[in-house]
Amino acid sequence: MNEIKIFSPATVANVSCGYDVLGFCLDTKGDEMIIRKTKEKGVKITKIVGAELPFETKNNVAGVAALAILDAANADFGVEVEIYKNIKPGSGVGSSSASASGTVFAINELLGRPFNKQQLTLFGMKGEAVASGVEHADNVAPGIFGGFTLVKSLEPLKIVQLPTPSELYATVIHPQIEIKTSEARNILPDEIPLSNAIKQWANLGSLISGLYTDNYELIADSLHDHIVEPYRSQLIPHFKEVREAAIKNGALGCGISGSGPSVFALSKGVEMAHNVADAMNTVYSNTEIEFDIYVSKINTEGIKIIHKK
Ligand code: HSE
Repeated sequence: MNEIKIFSPATVANVSCGYDVLGFCLDTKGDEMIIRKTKEKGVKITKIVGAELPFETKNNVAGVAALAILDAANADFGVEVEIYKNIKPGSGVGSSSASASGTVFAINELLGRPFNKQQLTLFGMKGEAVASGVEHADNVAPGIFGGFTLVKSLEPLKIVQLPTPSELYATVIHPQIEIKTSEARNILPDEIPLSNAIKQWANLGSLISGLYTDNYELIADSLHDHIVEPYRSQLIPHFKEVREAAIKNGALGCGISGSGPSVFALSKGVEMAHNVADAMNTVYSNTEIEFDIYVSKINTEGIKIIHKK
């Protein structure tokens, strides 16, 4: 195999009660990438369509991730990378991690799959760090594993794959404002009250139980964020109205996707997810802010191969 084309999906990190540890994979939104073997060693980014991103390998998320996996494999070839961005950088649905995880997944295929998903997540995190300054795995892991994932620990990296109830659908609204992940992290306090921590870990535990038992009521009862949302929601205009409208129209829960500005809701059934999209649409249609809304099933497969030759 000399060339592979993949679909690398958008992902929702945090999922309200799981800041920096929980994430899930979307299906309708994602980038495409073509990775080709070259005789010359090293990594060349040859094409970027759909976003203004650096072409220099060491400044590009995909470039750094590619170098990490090629080095670890001691590969006797290099690669050229074409990136077709459909996920807007800075939208809060894992744009940089889609580039990083897509690249390492594709190169692993070109290498004959020497690495497992856990190892691929580690290489992807090297790329992700270029964009956000910190190595976190809550967007990279759901892209690579599919479905819901829990980052049990970073050192050593341990990813726990979680089940996805079959009727769970996501609605995502992307208000077209920019929020830098670094800024959204900087506004968070270093310490939190124990009472909030208790509520948060109770919700995280019960959400995971709800995922295992297909208990949609329990999932709904758990999708609350007592720690991060109170700070970050101030960065997203009309967040409270969108959240209220989503819940009132049947969403199980609604929160900030990653560091925002996208806002996600989870619903039981695709019809409900579309109702929620309509409700979110009504809120933002009354504002000056441009936005984009989509409904997606939870992608349990993760990154997909479009072709290989
Ligand atoms: N967990 C990270 C955060 C995801 O919320 O800052 C950012 O992409």
